[in-house]
Amino acid sequence: MANTVCCLTLILFIASLASGVSAAASAGRMIFDVRSYGALGDGKTDNAIAFTRAWKDACQWKGSARVFVPLGTFYLGGVTFAGPCQNRISFIIKGTLLAPKDANAIKQDTWIIFRYVDYLTVSGGGTLDGQGTSAWRLNDCTRNPNCRPLPMNIAFQFVRFSRISRIKSINSKMGHLNFFAVEYFEITRVSIRAPEDSPNTDGIKIGSSHHMKIHDVFIGTGDDCIAILSGTTNLDIYSVKCGPGHGISVGSLGRFKDEKSVYGISVRDSVFTGTSNGVRIKTWAPSASRNTVSNFTFQNLQMINVGNPIIIDQQYCPNNQCSKNSHSQVQIENVKFNNIWGTSTDKVAVKLQCSQTAPCKDVELAGINLVHRGIDGPATALCENVSGWTRGKISPPSCI
Ligand SMILES: *[C@@H]1O[C@H](CO)[C@@H](O)[C@H](O)[C@H]1NC(C)=O
Ligand SMILES: *[C@@H]1O[C@H](CO)[C@@H](O)[C@H](O)[C@H]1NC(C)=O
Repeated sequence: MANTVCCLTLILFIASLASGVSAAASAGRMIFDVRSYGALGDGKTDNAIAFTRAWKDACQWKGSARVFVPLGTFYLGGVTFAGPCQNRISFIIKGTLLAPKDANAIKQDTWIIFRYVDYLTVSGGGTLDGQGTSAWRLNDCTRNPNCRPLPMNIAFQFVRFSRISRIKSINSKMGHLNFFAVEYFEITRVSIRAPEDSPNTDGIKIGSSHHMKIHDVFIGTGDDCIAILSGTTNLDIYSVKCGPGHGISVGSLGRFKDEKSVYGISVRDSVFTGTSNGVRIKTWAPSASRNTVSNFTFQNLQMINVGNPIIIDQQYCPNNQCSKNSHSQVQIENVKFNNIWGTSTDKVAVKLQCSQTAPCKDVELAGINLVHRGIDGPATALCENVSGWTRGKISPPSCI
């Protein structure tokens, strides 16, 4: 009620350049508070229309714009925030955004979508609550290959020069953060949580994207902490705490035609705790596309009670759909595993199962110290169709 006079707050107005040379007045910074568009933080009212209207005005503002969601619980149906926008735009979430419990109430593949935007910042310390608990039991994807995907929490599509920081994502119905055709994007100080037994709740999924950075994030879910998919290049991942979950995975690749190569990926200075895998590359056997996975560095990684700390699996084929004689066509080359230590719950701590038709090339193992404590004896390494070299002390003893 306090803010009845003006619906928008003008923070700053830059009349002209300091030199006065330019006569054209540029628009200043403006805050677009969703409450001014009728949004209610009561946890019940659907705020999709209010949020969309706030976004549209902010996106059309000639100066730098900020959509503001204050503290409170804002129930929100499926929304798409589309650009292009006139200028830089921030989406500041202080409170909690609450997804519909019913997946059918979200009429798109992702609950919250940002699309065709440059210079976007999503931040504010708030929470995206996907309310997945009741939807998880509808997930039959392990049994049904044509299962209907449930909505993910948030997607960025065709977004460039942008970032997400200081946001929590919890209990998505399927994956949490999804990136497609994104360039020059930073993900930092993001926390992602879903129970260990929640199905397909990947933390971050990335496809067809370039020049991304992920750092200082916490991810503990029921599936991959980070999944790196077809066409992703130049991705730097560091200072990640991963677990529980399935680790950081490249792939699966090779299942579909027209998949693109993946190269220039580093995963470094991170800790995996209680995950089923550490760092993994998996490709389908057989594969529908022939491409390359190359120039990877996995470096300075601690494994605490991890199932398969180092794993290349080119015979990936869930539900035994493939024949034993089919082999992956995806070529893996120039992959470095450097300074990786800790404990493996599986006896086979290093597993490099490459393709018979496209053997792995230039694989380096350097400074590996993985321990297995079990009645089945010390940790071992397994190699198939892999060539490369080792440097420094390697334990378990290398099979390359
Ligand atoms: C991979 O690295 C090698 C050597 O550093 C370089 O020559 C090659 O162009 C890189 N490949 C890709 C696809 O970037
Ligand atoms: C690939 O590995 C399998 C299993 O170890 C082996 O039988 C086969 O001979 C290898 N193929 C090549 C081309 O090295």
